[in-house]
Amino acid sequence: MGKVVITYGTFDLPHVGHIRLLKRLKALGDYLIVGVSTDAFNAQKGKVSIYPFEERREIIASIGLVDKVIAEEHWAQKITDIQRYNVDILAMGDDWAGKFDDLSSDVEIVYLPRTEGISTTDIKTVISRVNEDKLLALECAIDQVSRLAKKLR
Ligand code: CTP
Repeated sequence: MGKVVITYGTFDLPHVGHIRLLKRLKALGDYLIVGVSTDAFNAQKGKVSIYPFEERREIIASIGLVDKVIAEEHWAQKITDIQRYNVDILAMGDDWAGKFDDLSSDVEIVYLPRTEGISTTDIKTVISRVNEDKLLALECAIDQVSRLAKKLR
């Protein structure tokens, strides 16, 4: 099977930062495994995704970079996964730098620089701003209609 690389993440509203990370992870070895966080695990982390787990899993499995997708259900599963899949490298974006160093006797740990200027949180913020703008426009329209209705009384 060659060198096995594993990573974990939510991968909600997939963006170029995710794709670039997965490309670089794929280039680190021969077989790439991605642990996609389940909705229940996200809830534990205080995250609510737009896409449910099954859709995030399907997207990650379909982009042609990933050899196997597994469910990430809890923090402690990494060591079990490393043994089960004979993992050589555990690699994450550098927002996780240092967080998994306790596993360094079992596996090589690599933290890759994140792509700057994009995140799922940024995308959600932009979308919610669009919704706020629409709501404001709707409030103005209702106000105008109600003023017109008063005049017609
Ligand atoms: N990642 C990256 N570059 C980005 C965003 C994410 O390399 N611009 C990496 C993260 O470091 C992580 C993986 O992609 O290893 C999955 O990250 P995830 O948390 O799902 O994506 P984010 O966009 O960071 O989501 P959020 O804003 O919800 O934290």
